[in-house]
Amino acid sequence: MKLIQYADILSASRSGGKLFTDEKYVLTPLAKEALKRHNVEILSGGSSMRKIIIAGNWKMNMANDEAILLSKAVAAGVGMGEVKDRIAVMCPPFTALSSVAAGISGIKGLYLGAQNIFYEDKGAYTGEISADMLLSCGCSFCIIGHSERRKYFGETDETVNKRVKKALEKSLTPIICVGETLEERESSRELRVVKKQIAGALSGLSKNDIMKVVIAYEPVWAIGTGKTASPEQAQSMHAYIREQLAAIADGDVSQSVSILYGGSMTPANVKGLLECADIDGGLIGGASLKAEDFLKLVHFDD
Ligand code: PGA
Repeated sequence: MKLIQYADILSASRSGGKLFTDEKYVLTPLAKEALKRHNVEILSGGSSMRKIIIAGNWKMNMANDEAILLSKAVAAGVGMGEVKDRIAVMCPPFTALSSVAAGISGIKGLYLGAQNIFYEDKGAYTGEISADMLLSCGCSFCIIGHSERRKYFGETDETVNKRVKKALEKSLTPIICVGETLEERESSRELRVVKKQIAGALSGLSKNDIMKVVIAYEPVWAIGTGKTASPEQAQSMHAYIREQLAAIADGDVSQSVSILYGGSMTPANVKGLLECADIDGGLIGGASLKAEDFLKLVHFDD
């Protein structure tokens, strides 16, 4: 029997509002009160109550003043008080994290994420950013292994794995990106590629840790191209990813991990994608740069 304490709830509230446990649990009175106050939900092993996550990846866009305007517009319209089944995440560039955090603090269901994280704690790593730095700016999430990092900045499955471990050690929720290139899909290698990326990213993680990650399937050919994967294509890859999670961990773990789709998701195609059984949200680039579009994605079923 696990005793859930106040500190566990605070840490869950910083990383998306879900507290996972695969054991039976009891709550201290203080913890019970904190659950309500911090809007944290306890998910026990095997729960299929996956939250929808709509995450905006701003990439290298939005200088500080623009970022403040965009985040304020999102914060003003997000209105998640009554919507309990989803959360929204904004991932601005590092330079805007603090000011965006200040503008969204206290807004229910709206979280801050970074676009990368380094796996060492500190030291002579010019240009890198540590988990503690991200936490000190108010981050709860962190995108890891985006295809642009893999393509332009030498990210590999090994470095993705190290970053994922560091994020989890520091209670940041990693959003791990995987996905095949056009050439890989055209030569029918997409399953093999994604399987290798998933196995590499999760290598050496406990089941309990795997439960805490978020996966984003982003076919490279759909990113920024206006060419979206069809709901059938995306669903079939998401189901395959869930199978891989079941094989690496177990069925309960695979059912509790949110798998997002990314690649030219817009208000026009979001509904068809999110209606699929294994698509639990989106990682959105272009359409996250306009508050109106991002809010339409968050409230896709209104
Ligand atoms: P896009 O980007 O929505 O502009 O295609 C998605 C991503 O790269 O995360």
